[in-house]
Amino acid sequence: MILEALSPIKGDYHLQNYEETYQNFRWEEAEKNFSWYQSGKVNMGYEAVDRHAEGFRKNKVALYYRSNDRLEKYTFKELKEWSNKVGNVFKEYGVKKGDRLFVFMPRSPELYFAILGGVKIGAIVGPLFEAFMEGAVRDRLLDSGAEYLVTTPELLQRVPEKDLPDLKTIFIVGKDVQEKEKYVDFNKRVEKASKNLDIVWVDREDGLILHYTSGSTGKPKGVLHIHNAMIQQYMTAKWVLDLKEEDIYWCTADPGWVTGTSYGIFGPWLVGATNVVIGGRFSPENWYKALEDFGVTVWYSAPTAFRMLMGAGDEIVNRYDLTSLRHILSVGEPLNPEVIRWGMKVFGLRIHDTWWMTETGAHIVCNYPSMEIRPGSMGKPIPGVEVAIVDNQGKELPPYQMGNLAIKKGWPSMMRQIWNNPEKYASYFLPNGWYISGDSAYMDEDGYFWFQGRIDDVILTSGERVGPFEVESKLVEHPAVAEAGIIGKPDPIRGEIIKAFISLRDGYEPSEQLKEEIQAFVKKGLAAHAAPREIEFLDKLPKTRSGKIMRRVLKSWELGLPTGDLSMMED
Ligand code: WT7
Repeated sequence: MILEALSPIKGDYHLQNYEETYQNFRWEEAEKNFSWYQSGKVNMGYEAVDRHAEGFRKNKVALYYRSNDRLEKYTFKELKEWSNKVGNVFKEYGVKKGDRLFVFMPRSPELYFAILGGVKIGAIVGPLFEAFMEGAVRDRLLDSGAEYLVTTPELLQRVPEKDLPDLKTIFIVGKDVQEKEKYVDFNKRVEKASKNLDIVWVDREDGLILHYTSGSTGKPKGVLHIHNAMIQQYMTAKWVLDLKEEDIYWCTADPGWVTGTSYGIFGPWLVGATNVVIGGRFSPENWYKALEDFGVTVWYSAPTAFRMLMGAGDEIVNRYDLTSLRHILSVGEPLNPEVIRWGMKVFGLRIHDTWWMTETGAHIVCNYPSMEIRPGSMGKPIPGVEVAIVDNQGKELPPYQMGNLAIKKGWPSMMRQIWNNPEKYASYFLPNGWYISGDSAYMDEDGYFWFQGRIDDVILTSGERVGPFEVESKLVEHPAVAEAGIIGKPDPIRGEIIKAFISLRDGYEPSEQLKEEIQAFVKKGLAAHAAPREIEFLDKLPKTRSGKIMRRVLKSWELGLPTGDLSMMED
């Protein structure tokens, strides 16, 4: 059945023998790696930063940062001091354990100091992707009851303060900030603050980070992670990222997404690795140059980025010295075998696919350096976690049968709440303890998992999850739009693109200009990545008798596939 397999690469890996470790590993063993195992005092910020700053890694570079106009580096000692200063400023303005503190800013050292500073004083930190527009910002701050926000003067324009009664204080990162009412000059206050912080010890089950993510219905939901996630993030930084003392690691994801926190902050710093953060926008030249200039050894990115690099051609790769690279990983959507073959050709390395999701908080199904890779497969479950393909009742299915990709409840980094929505949280789990991911997959006879698709209508565009409902709701706010249905349409570079089917209100006529206007409307109201790249006008949308738009039918029309059961469709 397996057409091709890429053998494990010989070498000295953290996970030497996958099968043996999978059989024997218990999470209780991993706990011994943390200082709280002895001290009883827990805080992610301590484990990820202060612990190293107090030990032999004190003067090791923790962070390299480069953007158009900045090039900086910080040792673990400096990272500790900066995050302490920020923590002190937050404390001064009343931030307490459990308070929601949001960060809405571009990637910069200050963003990382702010996240760590918040974590160190026990706040629940909510990172917002810098591309979010007003509507998206409002929904997330409102739902979480955020009281504190760190942002820049530019992004402050997109914060609808008058709609946010809970928002008490806004820390503004910029030059010449006018302090008034809610506004605090972040840089000035941080400069003056003490380098010594009384860290706030928390319980392992206390809130750490709140990531908003999309589902098929309703507004984005707040996925709450806790300090205990460090156990799994630490182990997978070793097993999967294979981070070692001398590694220079670059995770290309923004902290606005879970990859950018779990593996852009916590995992790598828990194991004391050097992190590279690059500001600004993607371009093949910038990226290859970053790999070369920083001597990146371990690189974690996404299929959409690899496809764009592949599209830029092989000639450009050869202009850079990428010999430092040792290990490459991918996450976010299916990794095409074609991309793996390209990676072998240009980097001489296998790209390792990893599967997990916002809700899982850390890696779940992965490919490991010591294991054979079957291109197209997501790999095998990490040690300590049980994964299976189950039917809708939670019955395990035999190899090659397609079903729900499910995880046995209780892995250390599992989300602990959907904010304000216990029903939603409960709906993820079956009574017999399986967490249902929303992905369909099958397992082969050797235990490799193969992704087949989303069960719901969630769209994966450039590795980002877009909930159709949120986009549809925004579309119908446009005066010309009567009804809208959204689907993901397969796309060679982006995985999927968003296509909108729209019926117009009386008095409006389809036109190219109207399409562009509607696209701009969504871009401005939600985010650029949520705007439909394609729009098609229909007189009427296919709906169920109860009035639900049948996205499945739109999708089969689009793809020229049979529409299946139409008994639910209105006449
Ligand atoms: C959804 C989760 C966790 C980091 C990024 C995405 C899809 C994720 C893979 C993969 C095929 C994948 C799934 C999943 N997905 N990784 N290796 N192969 N699909 O996090 O935004 O929560 O999205 O992304 O559909 O459910 P997210």
